[in-house]
Amino acid sequence: MGHPQARQIAIDGPAGAGKSTVARRLADKLGYLYIDTGAMYRASTWLALQNNIELTDGDAIAALASASKIQLKPADASSDGKIRVFVNDQEITREIRTNRMSDLVATVAALGQVRTILVDKQRELAREGECVIDGRDIGTVVVPDAGLKIFMTASAEERARRRQIELAAQGENPDFADLLKAINERDYLDMNRAVSPLTKAVDAVEIITDDMSIDEVVQTLENLAQETFQTPA
Ligand code: DC
Repeated sequence: MGHPQARQIAIDGPAGAGKSTVARRLADKLGYLYIDTGAMYRASTWLALQNNIELTDGDAIAALASASKIQLKPADASSDGKIRVFVNDQEITREIRTNRMSDLVATVAALGQVRTILVDKQRELAREGECVIDGRDIGTVVVPDAGLKIFMTASAEERARRRQIELAAQGENPDFADLLKAINERDYLDMNRAVSPLTKAVDAVEIITDDMSIDEVVQTLENLAQETFQTPA
């Protein structure tokens, strides 16, 4: 064989496909670092709001993100299974997961200057060693040499249905048509922005999760990781 494979697992795909849950569980099982790049775009959006910066001001947000310490720490009981996020030592785990933030972050993620800064930070984290890293441009831009690339998706209807179940568990009763519309809008923004739009890397394995449980997806990826990274005897 040629070069040893970089033991990095890049997972890309649209919002709501289950990437972050699967990525975190897979990283736990393999003992790899989990890097949630969406959380970094959310943290940068939070920084902009805190500092009253227009969400279209790429230079100002990039400067602020560059000067700030953005840390991702493992999920624990306090964070409801989500990775814990700190900016300059202040925890913002909950603040970045509100519906409002989910709507606003797409604007910031479309800014090339911000992407340049965050991609640098992501590569720095990924260089630390074995990792599972998820987002939209991971296999195409952030770590194009990753040994295993996954493109994880599900139909918009299935993703809206999952979101409805998730919100119902929190006591909310949103309209299905509204959820579907929001998902289609986010897909459109992610796939049609000028800089690093969401696309499947040519060498990514596509996993369509409509009829799969989370456990099944994690198991499928674990098997793929074993096949990909096994060292020949
Ligand atoms: O995965 P998420 O919902 O936390 O992502 C938040 C936003 O950031 C979403 O609009 C997509 C964007 N994003 C991106 O453009 N590139 C990434 N690598 C990760 C997320």
